[in-house]
Amino acid sequence: MSEFDPLAPFRLDGRTAIVTGASSGLGARFARVLAAAGADVVLAARRADRIEALAKELDGLAVTCDVSDDAQCQALVDATVDRYGRVDVLVNNAGIGVPVPAETEEIDHFRDTVAINLTASYLLAQIAGRRMLEQGRGSIVNVVSMLGMVGAGQIPFPSYAASKGGLVNLTRELASEWARRGVRVNALAPGWFESEMTAEMFADEQSMNWVRRKAPIGRAGEPHELDGALLFLASDASSYVTGHILAVDGGWTAV
Ligand SMILES: NC(=O)c1ccc[n+]([C@@H]2O[C@H](COP(=O)([O-])OP(=O)(O)OC[C@H]3O[C@@H](n4cnc5c(N)ncnc54)[C@H](OP(=O)(O)O)[C@@H]3O)[C@@H](O)[C@H]2O)c1
Repeated sequence: MSEFDPLAPFRLDGRTAIVTGASSGLGARFARVLAAAGADVVLAARRADRIEALAKELDGLAVTCDVSDDAQCQALVDATVDRYGRVDVLVNNAGIGVPVPAETEEIDHFRDTVAINLTASYLLAQIAGRRMLEQGRGSIVNVVSMLGMVGAGQIPFPSYAASKGGLVNLTRELASEWARRGVRVNALAPGWFESEMTAEMFADEQSMNWVRRKAPIGRAGEPHELDGALLFLASDASSYVTGHILAVDGGWTAV
């Protein structure tokens, strides 16, 4: 029997992973996936009851955190290091997105979206990144969007598009700064997945018909269809991959 095991690098045993926005949707799923692969998971979001319940189930740590508050971002990483002694994976998943046409959007709405989706992700990458650089190892996964790479089309989304587009190129920049020091930075760019953020859209038949028409694969994504990509980027399975934007979008950005 050969000892060759190509699945072994996907394991995260003994690693610690922070997931922001773990109280619902994609983030809750990401936390389950990382825990199932062996990681100690730290769940962050504002809704304490949600993350506490999930942390209990996954035997992880819940840290109530509003990522728009700099001190709370620092406290999240501090609590992680206090409990587990290290930070190996950061999934910058917390995000907001409310469509408003460019000609009517209040500039503060734009600023708030950028503050959560881009600035907070950068601050957390800095704080966790310093720790990872000291350790000589780490993987940061920024959850961007295919709408950080192409215009949305039917949905007026300037603040979301700009914030995610900024995070796309910040991913490349951080990757190039830290590549020789053991810290990899990649991005996961989902297409359409059902969550609180997209609930209205998924309930609207016309919108879903648009998705079916426009996505080459002919449908929206199923929750499990991000699992493999997330695990790949978080783990040593992607040890020679950095600065990459991995679209999981049914081909939306391929055409
Ligand atoms: N669903 C999709 O089709 C799709 C497609 C592309 C990209 N994405 C991205 O995927 C990520 C997750 O979105 P989702 O679809 O799963 O939506 P969701 O269910 O609305 O989840 C958003 C998460 O972000 C957290 N969050 C929002 N503001 C926060 C803040 N100030 N501090 C801390 N946490 C905050 C929320 O937790 P609390 O409210 O408890 O704080 C929640 O857990 C987002 O970055 C989104 O842009 C989603």
